Amino acid sequence: MEARKAIGVFDSGIGGLTVVHELTRSLPHEEIIYLGDTARLPYGTKSPETVLRFSRKNLDFLKHKQVKLIVVACNTASSVALPRLQEEEELPVIGVLMPGARAAALVTKTKRVGVIGTTATIHSSAYVKALQGITPDLEIWTQPCPLFVPLVEEGWLDDPITELATKRYLEPLAEFGADALVLGCTHYPLLKDIISRVVGPEVVLVDSARETAAEVMNVLEERGLTNDRGGTGRITVYVTDIPYRFKEVGERFLRRPLEHVEHVEL
Ligand code: DGL
Repeated sequence: MEARKAIGVFDSGIGGLTVVHELTRSLPHEEIIYLGDTARLPYGTKSPETVLRFSRKNLDFLKHKQVKLIVVACNTASSVALPRLQEEEELPVIGVLMPGARAAALVTKTKRVGVIGTTATIHSSAYVKALQGITPDLEIWTQPCPLFVPLVEEGWLDDPITELATKRYLEPLAEFGADALVLGCTHYPLLKDIISRVVGPEVVLVDSARETAAEVMNVLEERGLTNDRGGTGRITVYVTDIPYRFKEVGERFLRRPLEHVEHVEL
């Protein structure tokens, strides 16, 4: 019975649909209930206390939907609130930070890794602590890239303005000599092409969305919670606000039509 329950996923907005996209690729039979806190977005500029408060509310909402596991798809919430949420919660709660950090630590040969994310994520130093917890002698270069979120939402994925911003943020990475770069934000996987062009093909881009889907698959298997029902799992999306161009932007992240969207008040 437990295995038939849905996986709950939350994010500050609709960017976490990049994680849902990866989940549907690795676990196509799973039902997914997604909550995007679009009314309170962005989390990336807010204090840790506020992000923790919002995250608790999101988690409670998903628990009431009887999910079997919760994914904190937001890098900011994973960076500043995850340990507390895991302490307080009996259900398995998986963030996007550790899977990305593990993959980067594994892939680097120069022992120099770059991490980009929102201002709150980078200021928390959570990625630095996670990476050095895995490989203590890693050297880490970090850079907040706050302009990337609005550029992605605007759909400027391959645009001279985005290229200019990417160069401004990421050119120092070459001098540092990193061979792996963690894309520590829900929105950044959509900028992979432009980022790769700027940092060069020798730098491996670590997509935390993809790594998180692999982690969810392992945890479900370990606990005997994998849904063995055939067919394609349904995705239900709840949002706390339906902003302008919601469908268009959401489908860009999910890479398929956005169905079953409901507006909720938390
Ligand atoms: N979802 C956020 C993250 O991954 C980005 C958007 C925001 O700032 O809320 O950090």
